[in-house]
Amino acid sequence: MTTNAYAGLDLTGQRVLVIGAASGIGRAAALLLGGRGAEVVCADRNGPGAAETAAELPGAVAVEVDVTDDRQVHERLATVMGPDRPLHAMVNCAGITGTTALVSHEIDVKDFEHVFDVNLRGAFVLSQAVLPHMTTNGYGRILHVASIAGKEGNAGMVSYSASKAGLIGMVKSMGKEYAESGVTINAIAPAVIRTQMVEEMPESQVEYMVARIPMRRCGTLGEVAEAIAWAVSPAASYTTGFVYDLTGGRAVY
Ligand code: NAI
Repeated sequence: MTTNAYAGLDLTGQRVLVIGAASGIGRAAALLLGGRGAEVVCADRNGPGAAETAAELPGAVAVEVDVTDDRQVHERLATVMGPDRPLHAMVNCAGITGTTALVSHEIDVKDFEHVFDVNLRGAFVLSQAVLPHMTTNGYGRILHVASIAGKEGNAGMVSYSASKAGLIGMVKSMGKEYAESGVTINAIAPAVIRTQMVEEMPESQVEYMVARIPMRRCGTLGEVAEAIAWAVSPAASYTTGFVYDLTGGRAVY
């Protein structure tokens, strides 16, 4: 009987960059990917947090990077990939909700812009930073964490929902652009996963979201990390420009 809590799909030989690795889904994904044999680069705006995750994984390194700083993204990502160090996959889990539990006319436009800068613009810049490397190699997996909010819209979360809808549109477009290159570009759309981000939301907002889930429960970090591990593995070779569902039955498309 195995004693490895991460037993499953073997990712030995894969180098994977995880953005947002200091916390929540990104941290869980980094630990699972590393537990399955991948060499993980843990990146986050929270450098010490990324280093803490990396310290739990043999061979992992940490990079402090803010996805809203274009130059920093390009410079720091360039240090972890090159001709002798192929990067096989990038998982982008960096994201924020911005202000929630307010209706649209009450939201400060600066808050709206900041949520877009992190969730959508950041995802675009990250993709731009790794795509030339991956297309040169003829292989790559890019996975962004979107949200059911981007498909259906959550009341009280206009900035977040709109940014994630934009992210879904971006992935669908990019997937088609690079479909013949060996690089797949997909997203996952979770409903509610109990992480720091959700803990910081008003309970009424969380109850609103859980009430819409047919399974009547939050997803677990393990469930999300499993889906991520498969979606960035070499096995996931015939899917691109797609949004994988993780909503306990909420999504209908
Ligand atoms: P979290 O708050 O636990 O982790 C987010 C991580 O992103 C943090 O480590 C944070 O430091 C990092 N980050 C934030 N802004 C950044 C920036 N500008 N540059 C670099 N790193 C930055 O949140 P959680 O729940 O793990 O969320 C991860 C992703 O999953 C987000 O995109 C979120 O929108 C998405 N998501 C989460 C759901 C949930 O229920 N927790 C549901 C659907 C989607």
